[in-house]
Amino acid sequence: MLQRYHRRYGDTFALKVWPFDPLVVISHPDDVKRVFTGDPAQLHAGEGNQVLGPIVGPHSVLVLDERPHLRTRKLLLPPFHGARMRVYGDVMRELAEAEVASWPAGEPFPALPAMQRLTLRIILRTVFGVDGARMAELEQALVRLTKVGTRVMLMPLLQRDWGPGSPQRRFEAARDEVDEMLHAEVRRRRASGERGDDVLSMLLDARGEDGSEPTEGELRDHLITLLIAGHETTATQLSWTLERLVRHPDVLARARAEALEGGHEYIDAVVKEAQRLRPVLTYVMRTLKAPMTVGGHEVPEGATIGTSITLIHRRPELYDEPLRFRPERFLEAKPETYAWIPFGGGVRRCLGAPFATFEMRHVLSVILTRRAITAPDPRPEPRRRRGITFVPGRGAQLVAQPL
Ligand code: HEM
Repeated sequence: MLQRYHRRYGDTFALKVWPFDPLVVISHPDDVKRVFTGDPAQLHAGEGNQVLGPIVGPHSVLVLDERPHLRTRKLLLPPFHGARMRVYGDVMRELAEAEVASWPAGEPFPALPAMQRLTLRIILRTVFGVDGARMAELEQALVRLTKVGTRVMLMPLLQRDWGPGSPQRRFEAARDEVDEMLHAEVRRRRASGERGDDVLSMLLDARGEDGSEPTEGELRDHLITLLIAGHETTATQLSWTLERLVRHPDVLARARAEALEGGHEYIDAVVKEAQRLRPVLTYVMRTLKAPMTVGGHEVPEGATIGTSITLIHRRPELYDEPLRFRPERFLEAKPETYAWIPFGGGVRRCLGAPFATFEMRHVLSVILTRRAITAPDPRPEPRRRRGITFVPGRGAQLVAQPL
């Protein structure tokens, strides 16, 4: 549908879709640059994320704008600096090895739930810093919270208290349970002074601009934010990458050969190409706080600009044979800043992009060196909407054989 509108109306067009008033879709790199580099006081992102508020909390970087947003972002950035990623590599590989070892041999199974389990465990170890029994307990509580939480967030009718057993009551109970565990963990670490390589350890010692230490409530919101923003997204992108790989045997063979040699340049290109053609999130949203001219149109205050990741990633003048899955294109040339935008851009660009890139590289390397993978059904999997993400319609079905 989007492609049809694009052909008919050009690079910029408006859609009337709830809850936007309206949604102005843009898809030209020059417009994307203007929006991503525009004044953050004029282009709000936190406002559009308010639906996440009940789960991520009021201190979350996702729901803030302007100065409070920048302050929080500054606090969260250091643990996600590219150079720090090396610390997490061993944990990512160890957990990926354990996950792959549990896969059935020769039987079709969906990769998506497997990747969800894995990315959740990776976040629990590297971000929350919990392990063993505490990890298992928190893992179960978080699965309950995200399951009921996403349903409640997306359906306003469910946010009313319909009595015992209602979705809102179950959501609140699940949230209280998770909060209690997180608060206990923060208190335990503060009391003992125990620190590790995890993100929480860095946040415990981080200080705000005025020298103050983060409160328990703030730390809780940061942890849940990193989980919500970083777990399903990475799991889904990994699943799409596997879905594409098993339908392109030449690419798969080259990626495996590289993984066996310990390299990752081509594997990174495979992930980039999967992110280009099968992005998990299809729009990057900004709400206008003042009128703005975009693509030659005057867009009023209150409208939302939706930068279409899908349309930009398929522009023929940016990508030769745009619909073809050809990772080599990323070895031949680096994508332009506003032409490849699966992680958004500007002051709101995904904080976890280096983490996700590193994680996808390591997880794929482990899978490629441990299992021969094929598609039980050669037809491409359709894109199915789940919440605000697009997932492989059959769950990224694989057949895996030990190598
Ligand atoms: C393949 C995986 C991922 C994808 C595709 C993805 C994509 C995105 C996108 C499109 C945005 C919005 C950017 C914008 O508005 O310009 C975003 C924001 C964000 N992401 Fe990611 N993300 C991924 C993984 C992660 C991970 C692993 C983490 C952390 C552990 C993370 C943390 C965040 C945070 C905190 C924000 C909000 C940044 C802000 O508002 O300043 N993401 N992500």
